[in-house]
Amino acid sequence: MSSSLATVAYIGATILFILSLGGLSNQTTALRGNLYGMVGMTLAVLATVFGPQVTAAGLPWIIGAMVLGGGIGLYAARTVQMTQMPELVALMHSMVGLAAMLVGFATYIDPTASAGFEGAAKTIHELEIYIGIFIGAVTFAGSVIAFGKLSGRVSGNPVLLPGRHWLNLAGLLVVIYFGGVFMQAHDVQAGMLPVIVMTIVALLFGVHMVMAIGGADMPVVVSMLNSYSGWAAAATGFMLSNDLLIVVGALVGSSGAILSYIMCNAMNRSFISVIAGGFGTTSTPKPAAGGAAQPAGEVTPVTALETAELLREAKSVIIVPGYGMAVAQAQHTVFEITKFLREKGVNVRFGIHPVAGRMPGHMNVLLAEAKVPYDIVFEMDELNEDFPDTDVTMVIGANDIVNPSAQDDPSSPIAGMPVLEVWKAKTSIVMKRSMASGYAGVDNPLFYKDNNRMLFGDAKKMLDEVLTALKA
Ligand code: TAP
Repeated sequence: MSSSLATVAYIGATILFILSLGGLSNQTTALRGNLYGMVGMTLAVLATVFGPQVTAAGLPWIIGAMVLGGGIGLYAARTVQMTQMPELVALMHSMVGLAAMLVGFATYIDPTASAGFEGAAKTIHELEIYIGIFIGAVTFAGSVIAFGKLSGRVSGNPVLLPGRHWLNLAGLLVVIYFGGVFMQAHDVQAGMLPVIVMTIVALLFGVHMVMAIGGADMPVVVSMLNSYSGWAAAATGFMLSNDLLIVVGALVGSSGAILSYIMCNAMNRSFISVIAGGFGTTSTPKPAAGGAAQPAGEVTPVTALETAELLREAKSVIIVPGYGMAVAQAQHTVFEITKFLREKGVNVRFGIHPVAGRMPGHMNVLLAEAKVPYDIVFEMDELNEDFPDTDVTMVIGANDIVNPSAQDDPSSPIAGMPVLEVWKAKTSIVMKRSMASGYAGVDNPLFYKDNNRMLFGDAKKMLDEVLTALKA
């Protein structure tokens, strides 16, 4: 493929990626957005593999690597559970970081990659390599730890080293100092030591940064690492002089940054305080995520039959889904119940918290999969004022996002996080298997409120029973 044809293909792919992002911003156009992205990526890959930068001798290697990587990707995508998606995404971010790191080292070592760079161009090229490896190493190490935290392999509690901000500052100074040494090195041998020292510091920084972040702030970390992986890809584009990679990396980087900002707003957190780590850790020690919190009062259990009775008598119902709905894969039964109640004239709506589940848009994806109409799915802000006029709220496998202590208890790790005020309805019903806490590991006073009922059991099983009782 000629260089000009490859450039045209790159421009086409760039436009498709922008259209894809535009499409993904709305549920009704998301499918089209995905399609644009897939066509754009196919075009980009073909233009790169058959473009002027790949020699005939390199082709078998690239195709071999694509078959191997594609096979692993296909296997992972087909076998991963919906609840493991966030971990998979974190792992993929780590791959982008690792790739940026390795490309940086390869570009530095390979004499042909640096040939032709003189004077200012050489300085810029080396700076790209140094910064590219740095971003790649931070993304790689941070994403591996995020993977560990999301999959429960690493504790969700923040690990706060004494003087951690000073440690970060010292690390940054070391990176800048060795950057100077690296830029002044006359050959690859002399430049190797500073770049290796910087890589080790960057890896430690990535680990430290994510280890210091508490469980409840993980959504911001996930979107932040998403942004970092974009910048790592852009850095790789600079190192390889690939314009498309630069543009795509910048698109991912900036959209990830916007998402992080939205997440911070949703959780009422300042971005800097989340990154600096340990937000809300002045509170008393909390139990491990998912562990049993100490009961703090009496709860009122109900049966599926009683739940069906409450629903049958209701005029308005708000359903609040959470991570447990994803675990139980209860979305289809939720839809069946919604359909039944709507046919009986009940006003059924869904309230979606921005950090419900384990990844941005987690609940929307599940509800869309179950074919719940978009026009009855509302964001938290759109619905919070309506709870006092609601007869029944059904909380399905949600916990942290409906925890009143976020408003009432300043010492809570989730203090200040906006929540869905389900307890303001006439009756709230919480569906979960036990009294265990949610991701943030804090007890939930909602369970003990007078107007709250607990429907204990697996969400899918209990909802099936509720549906049967409704239809009886
Ligand atoms: P959580 O607070 O984690 O609560 C989920 C609840 O579901 C648990 O208390 C669990 O209680 C219940 N559950 C689990 N399996 C169940 C099943 N099969 N049937 C019924 N219930 C089940 O979830 P949430 O309310 O959605 O809040 C999200 C949390 O995750 C927030 O703390 C958020 O910060 C964090 N987080 C979010 C993201 C993003 S981007 N959304 C990313 C990382 C972390 P039982 O064990 O008693 O059943």
